[in-house]
Amino acid sequence: MTQITEIAPDLYRISTFLPEANLQFNQFLVRDEQPLLFHTGMKGLFPAVRDAVATLLAPATIRWIGFSHFEADECGALTEWQTLAPAATAVCSLVAKLVSVDDVVARRPAQALADGEQLCTGKYRFRLLQTPHVPHCWEASLLFEETQGTLLCSDLFHQNGDVEPSTSADVVGRFKQMLVEYQQGPFAHYLPYTPYTEPTLQRLAALKPRTLATMHGSTFVGDGAQALADLAQVMQEVLGGR
Ligand SMILES: [Fe+2]
Ligand SMILES: [Fe+2]
Repeated sequence: MTQITEIAPDLYRISTFLPEANLQFNQFLVRDEQPLLFHTGMKGLFPAVRDAVATLLAPATIRWIGFSHFEADECGALTEWQTLAPAATAVCSLVAKLVSVDDVVARRPAQALADGEQLCTGKYRFRLLQTPHVPHCWEASLLFEETQGTLLCSDLFHQNGDVEPSTSADVVGRFKQMLVEYQQGPFAHYLPYTPYTEPTLQRLAALKPRTLATMHGSTFVGDGAQALADLAQVMQEVLGGR
C-alpha cells in the first residue's frame, strides 16, 4: 500500500512499506510550476509511485527528477519516468551525471548543479549541496528547499519499520537503532564515517531546516539543526574511530 502525506506546503511524501525489507521507501513530490520528484524508487515501485503521483498532478508533467546518489531506490526508475514525462530531466551533482547517470539510466542528459547552485521550480527554490560520502557514495548531494526550510536528506535519518509519515518526536534514537542493527548483519558499513562527515553535517545544520524529509522512515518536523547535531553525535559514536 502506497501512502501519500503532505509534509510541507505542496510537498508530498509518497511512501511504500516493503515488509521483506522492514523498510519504507519514500519519494517526495513538489507541486509547483515545474513539478519535481525527489527519488524515483526502484523500477519495481514505478507503477505504484506513478499512480500515487497521478492523484496529485499529471505524471507526464514532471519536469525535474532529483536524487542524492546513484542507487536503485534513488534513481532506478529514471528511465521509466523519462519515457512517461517528455520534459523530465534528472538534476544531480556533476559527478553523478558524468560517472553514472547519463550513461546508465538517463534518456536525456542530466542537469548537473554545482555546489550551492540553485534550481527554481516556480515558487520554490532548491539549492544543491554537494555532500561526498554523506549519506554515502562519492557523487552524493542533497537538495534544500529554501522558502520552506525543507532538507531532502536521502538516507540520513533512516529508520526501519512501518513508522508514521511525520513526527516532531525524536527520530535520531531510531536512526541509531538501525545503524547498530545493520552493523551486525549483511548491511554493515552502510554509511561511511570520513573526515568529511562531521563538517558536512555541520554545514547542513547551519541551514536550520524545519523539515527533514528522509527516504526511509518518518519525516521530522522541528529543530532540524539540533536533530543534525544529534545525528552527527550518533554517527561518531557508532561509526567513528574504527
Ligand atoms: Fe543510499
Ligand atoms: Fe535509500
